[in-house]
Amino acid sequence: MINPRLEPMFHASAPSPAFEHIGEPQRFEGPRAEISRDRDLVWWRRIMPVLKSHRVTFIGAITFSFVSLIFQTLVPKILMSAIDRLTPGNHQPIHGIVVAVLIIGLFAGVAGYLSRRFLFTTAYNVESDLRNLMYEHLTWLSFGFYDRVQSGQLISRANSDIRSVQMYFTFAPQIIVQCGIGVIAFGFMLSINVTLALIAMITMPIMYVVGIKMRQVMFPISWIIQARLADVAAIVDENINGVRVVKSFAQEAGEINRLADASEKVAWAYTKDADIRGQWAPWVQNLPQLGLALVLFFGGWMVTLGHAPIGAIVAFNAYLLMLQAPFMMLGQLVMMGQRARASAERIFEILDEQPDITERPGSIDLLDVQGEVVFNHVRFGYGDGADILHDFHATIKAGESVALVGRTGSGKSTVARLVARFYDVRDGSIQIDGHDVRDVTLPSLRANVGLVLDEPFLFSVSIRENIAYGRADANLDEIISAAKAANAHEFIEQLPEGYDTVVGERGYTLSGGQRQRIAIARTLLVNPPILILDDATSAIDVHVEAEIHDALESLLEHRTTLVIAHRISTIALADRVILLEEGRVVAEGTHEELLASVPLYAEVLAQTTSESL
Ligand SMILES: Nc1ncnc2c1ncn2[C@@H]1O[C@H](COP(=O)(O)OP(=O)(O)O)[C@@H](O)[C@H]1O
Ligand SMILES: [Mg+2]
Repeated sequence: MINPRLEPMFHASAPSPAFEHIGEPQRFEGPRAEISRDRDLVWWRRIMPVLKSHRVTFIGAITFSFVSLIFQTLVPKILMSAIDRLTPGNHQPIHGIVVAVLIIGLFAGVAGYLSRRFLFTTAYNVESDLRNLMYEHLTWLSFGFYDRVQSGQLISRANSDIRSVQMYFTFAPQIIVQCGIGVIAFGFMLSINVTLALIAMITMPIMYVVGIKMRQVMFPISWIIQARLADVAAIVDENINGVRVVKSFAQEAGEINRLADASEKVAWAYTKDADIRGQWAPWVQNLPQLGLALVLFFGGWMVTLGHAPIGAIVAFNAYLLMLQAPFMMLGQLVMMGQRARASAERIFEILDEQPDITERPGSIDLLDVQGEVVFNHVRFGYGDGADILHDFHATIKAGESVALVGRTGSGKSTVARLVARFYDVRDGSIQIDGHDVRDVTLPSLRANVGLVLDEPFLFSVSIRENIAYGRADANLDEIISAAKAANAHEFIEQLPEGYDTVVGERGYTLSGGQRQRIAIARTLLVNPPILILDDATSAIDVHVEAEIHDALESLLEHRTTLVIAHRISTIALADRVILLEEGRVVAEGTHEELLASVPLYAEVLAQTTSESL
């Protein structure tokens, strides 16, 4: 929305030849399905809609996996018939059988490839959908949520939780299909020899129990490993981000010790893990031999008695090998299911969180804003906390510029956040041109209220993209005039790559004042009729501030402005000053009036000015 009164300021010099789109078109289509909103469903049924949206690949995966295993179960039986033809003196050719085995092997291989291919496609799509759902939801959540949770930890945990759910969805169908095949193999065994089939199956329940037991002992240690790896990661992260503090206090040695301790703990956990694996490996490896021995013993006996063909022993051995893995994994599946459930529940915790700030039904777009802002007896506090603002009452006329002055913690930033409706008031209301901010659509509200925060956050992209963040369609001329208005143009020009210089964490490091000027330019480009500068000039040094004074002055002239500032020079630009003390308006008037008549004002100014220096 362009405010007509501001047109001359950002008048882009006709259609510019330098015009270039720098905003990427939005390609994100979003996941095809959401999780079920019904909280009473079992966890996997809540995720089912997401899986169902990938049913084509999923069913493909299951089908091919089944086909591949069917082929594999055919082989032992064919092998048996081949061996039975090979009795001395019997000269039946077996070339056909050899070819058949090769062809079946080929088909089984192709089907196996396709099943894996489809299964992993499904699994990673489900993972990606869950992640997108989660991030999409996180962006919807209100500031109140981010005040409550440690967002960084939440996101990294969410990632590993999504992974564990994904793994279960990959693993479970495979095991279930394999167990289904087990039934078929068992059928084949029964058709060859019932007694021998039953004997061969004796070890299966043992395999199942071993699978469960092994998981039970491995489980705690795998959690410990995860937690300790996270500790190490946290220390490394702190040391990289806090490297200046570490070095300036010469604490390198201490930090190295801390890291050494943590990695020693990781090593201990991994050793323990290897030890447990070592103890279980003989069981896992030799249990199948027990089965084979049983088959050999009883089968051999039966063969000598003529109750079973000799090929049966070979076939049974092959079937046993085929069966043991799924039985053992069936036990593991139970444990993995428990883990996936715990993970899914943590994912649901976030997805079920409702944003506190929502649009009322029938909200209207805030259009043609003149810029009158009224705080109507506002009472507010964060979360369940005590009231921060008490009966805050003030009117800012359209086009007026007002300075909000008060001690640290008096609630100035809180007032700023309420205008953009980052939070809702507890009592009273905030009106823009007579519209309660709760009755207008959020995008239209935020397009009209420009907020420059005291800690400007820049993205790790070029400066021009940072400035164009709120208006990706802006052309370079517009970006440059916004930068000029914020007095940022000159220093940007001097950077090695000018407007294309990449800033942010990994890019070129700008000073606090430079970042702040880019943040101001970013807001100015959107050209909002209501502008709030929350300590936006505090990091800009006095000398530079004097330089941008003219720019600031013209900014304030053209729109409704709320400036939160410490410096008398900035405050003096405003038409009027509101003095805030512990969430209450204690005085209003021009700078000179307050200076002359309100002792607290002079006191606060003296204090905040010395704090900011
Ligand atoms: N996100 C928040 N959650 C809870 N309390 C907060 C939050 N932000 C600020 N506060 C509290 O609200 C009070 C006013 O803070 P603020 O508006 O930032 O003051 P100012 O900007 O005047 O320094 C302070 O006591 C502060 O601790
Ligand atoms: Mg503040």
